[in-house]
Amino acid sequence: MYNPFTLDGKTILVTGASSGIGKAIAIESSKMGATLIITGRNEQRLKETYSLLEGSSHDLIVADLSLKEDLYLLHKELPVIDGLVNCAGLTKVAPFSFATRDSFEEVMNVNFFAPTELTRLMVKTKKIRKGTSIVFISSVSGVYCSAVASSIYSSSKGAVNGLVKGMALDLAPKGIRVNSVNPGMIETDIFKGSAITEEQLRIDVQNYPLGRYGKPEEVAYAVIYLLSDAALWTTGTNIVIDGGYLLK
Ligand SMILES: NC(=O)c1ccc[n+]([C@@H]2O[C@H](COP(=O)([O-])OP(=O)(O)OC[C@H]3O[C@@H](n4cnc5c(N)ncnc54)[C@H](OP(=O)(O)O)[C@@H]3O)[C@@H](O)[C@H]2O)c1
Repeated sequence: MYNPFTLDGKTILVTGASSGIGKAIAIESSKMGATLIITGRNEQRLKETYSLLEGSSHDLIVADLSLKEDLYLLHKELPVIDGLVNCAGLTKVAPFSFATRDSFEEVMNVNFFAPTELTRLMVKTKKIRKGTSIVFISSVSGVYCSAVASSIYSSSKGAVNGLVKGMALDLAPKGIRVNSVNPGMIETDIFKGSAITEEQLRIDVQNYPLGRYGKPEEVAYAVIYLLSDAALWTTGTNIVIDGGYLLK
């Protein structure tokens, strides 16, 4: 059947695949025919994602991307790939006067430095093929807007979007495309254990014209487009998936 979005024959690495958006990206990409290499910190949750992948020949590598040793080991174990989704990330909610340098470093380390270094190593060692699509999961926060007590997270995602533009230019001669997907609020565990209350979320959802937060799969579908050959002429751009949030 004709399908311009097929991922048949593509090997795709997804970071942050043990939970939320990364998990959905891995599962949906496998349904589109991709061979997945999934990575995350929590082995049990990673195995659960693995068990939900369609098809065979997938691989799973446990790594904590905040640790340089883990990142280098992960890179060493990886084969040549056709797609890279930098999805692993975390948030830290703190009013600016409490946003210490340590907090910035903790978040920047995982949201910005780790994907930057992993991608650089993959390019440098030619583990990224000509025609590879690199996708960063950024956010509307820090690129189009922010929220109270979000300066740390917003900074990290703003940096990601700047990186996407610079990388896209530098890697275009190699036929490598670099884009981001910028979601609004998606129902995942990202705020688990944070200072944000259920009541605050109930009020916040009213800012979404489509009347609800997004589902991880709704981000995954945009990522699949960027990974597929349907997006062969798309680079250096960002796709907002936000239920109309930015219209207000
Ligand atoms: N949910 C939203 O509303 C939303 C909106 C916009 C953008 N995003 C972005 O989407 C991405 C995924 O977030 P999510 O909502 O799916 O959150 P999530 O459910 O909390 O998942 C976060 C993922 O990142 C991984 N991760 C965190 N720290 C890591 C580290 N040090 N090393 C390796 N992996 C690490 C986690 O691995 P373990 O579970 O194994 O620790 C997990 O797989 C993030 O970049 C986030 O900023 C989310």
